[in-house]
Amino acid sequence: MSIVKLSEIKISEMTREDIEGVVAIEEEAYGKHHWTKSSFYDEVSNSLARYYTAKTLSGELAGYAGTWHIMDEGHITTIAVKKDFLRNHIGEALICRIIEDCYKDGVKYLTLEVRVSNIPAVRLYEKYGFKSLGTRKGYYQDNNEDALIMWTENIFYDKFKTKYMENIKKLEIAGLNLISKSAGKS
Ligand SMILES: CC(C)(COP(=O)(O)OP(=O)(O)OC[C@H]1O[C@@H](n2cnc3c(N)ncnc32)[C@H](O)[C@@H]1OP(=O)(O)O)[C@@H](O)C(=O)NCCC(=O)NCCS
Repeated sequence: MSIVKLSEIKISEMTREDIEGVVAIEEEAYGKHHWTKSSFYDEVSNSLARYYTAKTLSGELAGYAGTWHIMDEGHITTIAVKKDFLRNHIGEALICRIIEDCYKDGVKYLTLEVRVSNIPAVRLYEKYGFKSLGTRKGYYQDNNEDALIMWTENIFYDKFKTKYMENIKKLEIAGLNLISKSAGKS
């Protein structure tokens, strides 16, 4: 596992040129049940979708994430970090970028599905205020595993913002440059 400083990680919008590398991380993270290249090509040209990459200063792809903005809801469709870079706060940095863009677009609630057994992901979402509000039975067809359906409260509410800003401050101390901090604005 590599140790990388957040000041050496840049979060950008995903482009078509990134997709080859994204699919390689997909395969590593999800085995044979990964999204295909063509799904990502569709996603980067979907006007409702926002896709991001996390890269090192030398341009190595370390992770990616995506969201759909539909009315006042943001649905996180995918997030993964390359194995070599796990536990370097890159997953968090991607979640923060997602949240920042939700503030900009007036998206109030974030939601996602996650395997009940996926503790790293569940803990990451919980850290950012997601709570499990139900399950989808047998949602994952490969092993019939249930999905937790997780939601944030309204991200414009002070309760959410306070926790979010606390997390951001720690990431900034670790070197993250988020550019804007929309939550800080009223
Ligand atoms: C989930 C995932 C994106 C997290 O990425 P990451 O960059 O390693 O996570 P971070 O370093 O940003 O960790 C942020 C928080 O997530 C939680 N977390 C991350 N990995 C964890 C682990 N292995 N065990 C427990 N908690 C974990 C912790 O709360 C952590 O905060 P802390 O460092 O203060 O304890 C990564 O494990 C991954 O790519 N998994 C495979 C793909 C996947 O399952 N995606 C989710 C699909 S719904």
